[in-house]
Amino acid sequence: MEELSNKIKKLKKQKDAVILAHYYVNDEVQAIADYVGDSYYLSKIAVSVPEKVIIFCGVTFMGESAKILSPQKTVIMPDLLADCPMAHMASAEKIEAVRGKYEDLAVVCYINSTAEIKTHVDVCVTSSNAIKIIKALPQKNIYFVPDENLGKYIARQVPEKNFIFNDGFCHVHDEIMTDEVEDALAAHPNAKILVHPECTLEVIDLADYVGSTSGIIEYATTSDAEEFIIGTEVGILYQLKQKNPNKKFYTVNSNQVCPNMKRITLPKVGFALENMINQIEIDESTRVKAVKSLEKMLELSK
Ligand code: 13P
Ligand code: SF4
Repeated sequence: MEELSNKIKKLKKQKDAVILAHYYVNDEVQAIADYVGDSYYLSKIAVSVPEKVIIFCGVTFMGESAKILSPQKTVIMPDLLADCPMAHMASAEKIEAVRGKYEDLAVVCYINSTAEIKTHVDVCVTSSNAIKIIKALPQKNIYFVPDENLGKYIARQVPEKNFIFNDGFCHVHDEIMTDEVEDALAAHPNAKILVHPECTLEVIDLADYVGSTSGIIEYATTSDAEEFIIGTEVGILYQLKQKNPNKKFYTVNSNQVCPNMKRITLPKVGFALENMINQIEIDESTRVKAVKSLEKMLELSK
């Protein structure tokens, strides 16, 4: 493992590459990454890094967003099959149908979506900037795609808007059940419950804190509590433990695993970097349309 890490470090210099990783990828990949963060942080950092090559250790929509925003950079995925199923749960036809029904409508798209869907929407958001961005939009009606749970959580925080939802979901978060949260709390009565807003509203109602992956890490790190029940993908425990070696972290159940994020392994990072394979390609007509929604996100979340 150490030999491979050293090889990757050398290759990075040779190829002028930087490694970006999401909190859900395998521990050893997070350990060698130059930047680790939530989707919003990674989309910003991908634009500002000076290196010509980005190795994106995450799922397809993350690599695609980096390529859409920085077409001059080479964006490589260690495994092109690492794709977020929720990203495919919105439909261009449905979007156009909803547009036909409301005059004063903004289509707000979670960044967990395909490049093609991004060409049909007004603005992208992530869980760490959605409330701020939606509040700033002039439109009264908001069609939120693809995630219904996140949409419903945001709608509660922005009661002045009328929300229309889409039936997309993340299987990892949607399958966290309230009785499991209650059992975890019974087993660890002093623990705080921290969950991602892709969880159901019923689970959210049991939580002490709801936020993005970086929000969860920030809350646990600055809290006086010593034990935490974590309602998001298990990969986040690596950073939680790194930053808080004396605190205890538990998942709600044993299925909080995103199989797509777990496709990203250290040997695949090394192989893709060495051979410059798995480059993200987006045709220019899609890119110029999709980039508007991402640039608007970066502008409105400042
Ligand atoms: P964050 O933006 O909070 O990192 O979430 C990304 C994601 O895919 C959650 O499942
Ligand atoms: Fe997609 Fe869920 Fe995996 Fe996040 S955890 S990348 S939303 S499948």
